[in-house]
Amino acid sequence: MAGTHVSSLLETPIIALGYAGGRSDALEDWRGFGVNLLGLELEQATRADVNFRMDGAARRLMFSADAAEASAFFGWEVADGAVLSALAARLESHGYVANPFPRALCDRRGVKDGVITFDPAGNRIELFYGQEQAPAPFTPGRALSGFRTGGLGMGHAVLHVESIDGVMPFYCDILGFKLSDYALRPFKAYFFHINARHHSLALIETGGAGIHHLMMEVQGIDDLGQGYDLAQLEEGRVATTLGRHSNDHMVSFYVRTPSGFLIEYGWGGRSIDPSAWAPVEMNIGPSLWGHERDWLPPETRDEARRLRLAAASAGVRAPLRSAGMRKGAGVTALRCASFAVFGAAAMRWMLTPPMRRI
Ligand SMILES: [Fe+2]
Repeated sequence: MAGTHVSSLLETPIIALGYAGGRSDALEDWRGFGVNLLGLELEQATRADVNFRMDGAARRLMFSADAAEASAFFGWEVADGAVLSALAARLESHGYVANPFPRALCDRRGVKDGVITFDPAGNRIELFYGQEQAPAPFTPGRALSGFRTGGLGMGHAVLHVESIDGVMPFYCDILGFKLSDYALRPFKAYFFHINARHHSLALIETGGAGIHHLMMEVQGIDDLGQGYDLAQLEEGRVATTLGRHSNDHMVSFYVRTPSGFLIEYGWGGRSIDPSAWAPVEMNIGPSLWGHERDWLPPETRDEARRLRLAAASAGVRAPLRSAGMRKGAGVTALRCASFAVFGAAAMRWMLTPPMRRI
């Protein structure tokens, strides 16, 4: 029976994006940015580590100044130890490493066990099971209804690659990611799902390498808009203006992090039925409106603008997911009250331009 369990789970062995992070020498900036703008809860902050919570999990976003820490890592969750072992064997049979987590790494990431591998672009992939839950409920860093996580994972990761064709077989054929859709204009981008989130991973063919952005989704549209107000207090913090994506229907904006990569802060993403989903080419551009990307070359930016104006005039509209406010309004009220106490300090941080790269 165990064999049947594993072979059926190996069709789609990855459950969700469980955690992410990397090495950083800007921990103090991360601390202020994560708590005051993103609304994450500081789980642990030392001179060497800053870890954040965004739900019941002990930690979801982790940064360390330790020279031994990977420059970036992505933690993909599997169901249990049997699936982890089978997936490690599959990786090795295709010529990829599958190095077991040392005990200290299990403790550091807050998981029962895991293996380390690398995708063909060199990104460090950590496959794990048994994510530790925190003993106390999540308390957001600013007044916030919470994050949409659970079975959908912490959000999505988008990676720069030189060649999508060179990387896609690793994720689809070995790790079991399924194509959601793809776009060839204004830049080549492929989107992949592993659960009901429209995409937990995307690859964009920019010729670069490493992380382009992480997406985290808040529970309420006001959480999003209030975060946008805070982000705009700082010159250069907003990298992509408020807009709505044409494929996952996410209303979002993007901010630069203290590590230089972006975080997409979103609300209202659609849920899909993976068993009934058929991938299509998205030819109306990546956004229905907004999303002016200051990081794109001018000609690509112009094309993105032309595409969305054409979609708008053609009457393209997407439905809104009914996203109720999270239960526990008391948490919001409590944080509103406490914001009055530490609000002045938070505002000073917001007005300081701390933009730095690792
Ligand atoms: Fe995104």
